[in-house]
Amino acid sequence: MRPTFYLAWCLGLGWWAGLGNASESVPLGSLDLSLMRQGWGRPRIDRAVTGKPLAIGGRRFDHGVGTHARSTLWVRLDGRAERFQAMVGVDDAAGNRRASVRFRLYADDEKLFDSGRMTLGDPPKPVDVDLSGRRSLLLLVTDAGDGIDFDHANWAEARFIMAEGRPVAVKAPEEPRVILTPKPGPAPRINGPTVSGCRPGHPFLYRIPTTGERPMRFSVEGLPPGLQLDAENGILSGVAPPRGDHVLTLRAANRHGEARRRFTIRSGDLLALTPPMGWNHWYAHYNRITDAMVREAADLMVRTGMADAGYQYVNIDDCWMRARPGGNPANRDREGSFRDASGRLLPNRYFPDMKALTDHIHALGLKAGIYTSPGPYTCAGFAGSYQHEEQDAATFAEWGFDFLKYDWCSYGRVATGEGRERLMKPYRLMGDILRRQPRDIVFNLCQYGMGNVWEWGARVGGHSWRTGGDLGFELDNLFEVAKRNARLRQWHGPGHWNDPDYIQIGYVGNARQTGEPRPCPLSPNEQYAFMSLWCLLAAPLFYSGDMTRLDEFTLNILCNPELIEVDQDPLGRCGRLVEGPGETFLLVKELADGSRAIGLFNADEVPATVRADWRALGLGPKQRVRDLWRQQELGVFADGYTARLPRRSGMVLRVWEAR
Ligand code: GLA
Repeated sequence: MRPTFYLAWCLGLGWWAGLGNASESVPLGSLDLSLMRQGWGRPRIDRAVTGKPLAIGGRRFDHGVGTHARSTLWVRLDGRAERFQAMVGVDDAAGNRRASVRFRLYADDEKLFDSGRMTLGDPPKPVDVDLSGRRSLLLLVTDAGDGIDFDHANWAEARFIMAEGRPVAVKAPEEPRVILTPKPGPAPRINGPTVSGCRPGHPFLYRIPTTGERPMRFSVEGLPPGLQLDAENGILSGVAPPRGDHVLTLRAANRHGEARRRFTIRSGDLLALTPPMGWNHWYAHYNRITDAMVREAADLMVRTGMADAGYQYVNIDDCWMRARPGGNPANRDREGSFRDASGRLLPNRYFPDMKALTDHIHALGLKAGIYTSPGPYTCAGFAGSYQHEEQDAATFAEWGFDFLKYDWCSYGRVATGEGRERLMKPYRLMGDILRRQPRDIVFNLCQYGMGNVWEWGARVGGHSWRTGGDLGFELDNLFEVAKRNARLRQWHGPGHWNDPDYIQIGYVGNARQTGEPRPCPLSPNEQYAFMSLWCLLAAPLFYSGDMTRLDEFTLNILCNPELIEVDQDPLGRCGRLVEGPGETFLLVKELADGSRAIGLFNADEVPATVRADWRALGLGPKQRVRDLWRQQELGVFADGYTARLPRRSGMVLRVWEAR
C-alpha cells in the first residue's frame, strides 16, 4: 500500500470509529458471549438468534449480536471505554406480533439507555452512550412485560469505542449466600396449614409439621373416631370423619416446652384447602428418575426438616412409565409395551412396585403423587392415558397415589370439539373419574394456561392449574412471571390454585433436560425473592431440585415457617400487585388474622428504593412491622416503610395495625 493511501485508509478507519486515532472500535460479537444469559437459544454473532441475517424494521445489518429476552451480558470496562454504540430492535424473523422487548444499558448502577417497548416491525433505534470513566456495563433485554415468547432481540452494529484496552465479558456480580433466618429453636413449633380438606370415609393421612428438638410427644384433643395418632412422630391417620368441620387441638411437647395449634379437618367435597406443598422430581432428574430416588427424596423430606416446615407430597413426574419403542434413544432402557393384556398401565423397569413405593412414602406420614397425560403420549414420549382414563385412575388409586398431574402434551393430536370445550374436555373427564375414586386425589392441571384455564379449571375438577409454560425456560424472568400470576388473583382460593410451576433453587437441571443437576443460576437474592413471591401469591410450593444436595442456604429459603404461614394462610388470598416506580412493585396479601404480608420487590438490575405507604394500601396510620426472613420485629412505623433494595431482590414484611 502506498504511504498516502495508507494514511487515508487509517484516517478513514478513525473516522468510522467516530474518534481520534488512539481509539479502537471493538465489536460486541468479539467478546466472550458464552457469558451472555438469555431465555431461548444462544447468542449469535452477525446473525439473529434464529441464525438468519440480522434485520430490524426492514433494514439489514451485517454485524451485531442476535439474542433473546431475557438477556443479560455484564462487561468490565475499567474506565477505559469511551462509548457504546448500536442499533437495536426486534428481529424481523421473530414472526409473531407478540414479539416485544425492551433494551437497556446500565453502567455502574446507573441507567444510561432505555429503548422503551419495541415490537416487531419497529424501525431500529440508535444507541450511543458515553462510557467515560465507567467501570462496568450491563446490556439487558427484557420481555416488555408479556412473556418472552418470540422475543428475538438484535444488538445490531454494536461496538465499544475504547480509549485503550478491551472490554471483557464477565459473570454477574457475585452476592454472598447470606442465611437470613435464625435456626428453629429447640422448643416445639407447629407449622403448616391450620385446615385440611378431605372426603368422608376416604383414607386420611396428615403428618403434623413441627420443628423443635426430637424426641417429641404429640397429643390431640377432639380427635374424631376413625382417626388415630402416632404420638411419637405426630402422624394422624385412619378414615376421614363424617361431613363437617372437626376442630382439633394439636399439641407437641418436648423437654423445652409445648406448642399448641387449632387445626380443622374439613370433611366434605373440597381438597387442597391450602396450596399443596411438596417435591416434584422433574427439574432435577427428568428421565433418570427411579423408585430408589423417589424413596430417598421422601426420606430426605423428613430428614432435612422439610416435612417439619409443611412439605408433604412426594411427586413423580414424567418418565416412570414405559417409553415408546424407537423414540428418543435416551429412553431406550425404559422402552416397552405400555400396557398388559388387560390394558393395565405398566411402570418401567426402574419402578418395580408402585404400591410398595407409596407404602414407603405413606409410612413417613407423607403423600404420593403421580403423572400422566390425557394424550396417547406424555411430553417426554412415554405412555399416556388416552382412552384408558377410567382404568388408569383406578390403578393410581389402587397403588395409593394422592395427587395427579395431568399434562396435555400430545393431546392436541386427538382432541375434538371447538374452542374452550376442546380444552376442557379431557380435564372434565379425568376430574369426574378422580372424584369417584375411593381415595382423595388432588388434581393438578398442566396445559400451560391455554384458554385461560384459571377461568374454568375449578369447574372441571382441578385443584390447581399451571398458568404458563415450563418455568425452567423462564427462570430469569421470575419477577414478571410472578406479576402475571398476581393479575390472576380473582381465580385463586381454597381448593383452586393458580400454579406458576416449581421452586427451582439449590441443585437443578436446565429445562432442556440435559445433564445432572447443577447449582441454580439465580443469585442468592433472586432465590430469596423466588420463595417470597411464591408465598405471597399463595402458590403451590413444590421444590423441584436435587434433594440429596440440599444445603443449609437452600433449606433456609425453603423452610422458613413464617413465610410458609403466609403461603398456607387459610384465607387463601393471592397477593395484590401494586406497581411502584421503575421496576419496583409490592405484593400485598391479606391474612386470616387481619394482618397483611407485604412483599417489597426490586426487579431492576440496579439498587432501588421501595416504599409501602400505609394509606395508599388502605391501612391505618401506624403499623407494627416484622421482617419475616430475619424473623425480627422492626418496630411500629407511622405512614409507611421504606427500604433500599439491592438489584433483583425483595423482602417480606408482616404488618399489624398498631395504636
Ligand atoms: C411438560 C410439563 C413439565 C413436565 C414435562 C414432563 O413440559 O409442563 O412440567 O411435566 O412436561 O415431560
